[in-house]
Amino acid sequence: MLEKIAISSVRIDQLIARRWSARAFDKSKSIEPEKILALCEASRWACSCFNDQPWRFIYWNKFENPEAYQKAFNCLDEWNQKWVKNAPLLIVSIAGSKFIHNGKPNRWGQYDTGAATINLCLQAFSMGLYAHQMGGFSIEKLRQEFNIPVEFTPMAMIAVGYPAVPEILDEEYYKLEIKGRERKPLSFNFFKDSWNTPIVND
Ligand SMILES: Cc1cc2nc3c(=O)[nH]c(=O)nc-3n(C[C@H](O)[C@H](O)[C@H](O)COP(=O)(O)O)c2cc1C
Repeated sequence: MLEKIAISSVRIDQLIARRWSARAFDKSKSIEPEKILALCEASRWACSCFNDQPWRFIYWNKFENPEAYQKAFNCLDEWNQKWVKNAPLLIVSIAGSKFIHNGKPNRWGQYDTGAATINLCLQAFSMGLYAHQMGGFSIEKLRQEFNIPVEFTPMAMIAVGYPAVPEILDEEYYKLEIKGRERKPLSFNFFKDSWNTPIVND
């Protein structure tokens, strides 16, 4: 597994520091059923507003149901298809827009679904798997193909699999694969006491 550890100003948990969004997957290796279940369990235990658990996930396992996988794969945009083709597992995270207990709008539905999804990604990494989220797909196509109701919104597709060497990728993706990970300086996103008062000067 190619290491792309976050260069952080202080030491952070190694799972967070080491997780990254890879594109080179081993197409010959399926994911063990108990590991797929662990991904679901990790999402299940995310926190959510009113403990509503507004997320829904659908997964497609290429080794189990190649036709369904292909249908999901066809919803990805072309740029993503070129590297996702080797990933044995595709997942979509879907956010509910109404609270179960009173049917009122749940403005935290997408927020909570993001939290459940990063749990899944971190769990994947902890088990030696890569998980790579994508916004580049057709929501409408996915909705139609898999009968997703209007009060639910597909948020991200996630490619999951075991790592392969970066050399299997086309040049454009290879360059991204070996490039270091980047973030804005802490001062851009993090404030204290007031809006736009950076926590540090970096
Ligand atoms: C909601 C979301 C949508 C994304 N969409 C895509 C995408 O369509 N294609 C892609 O290759 N990467 C996509 N990414 C991956 C990001 O580019 C990646 O997380 C970011 O560059 C940070 O890299 P890191 O995850 O390795 O730290 C997406 C990530 C998120 C969270």
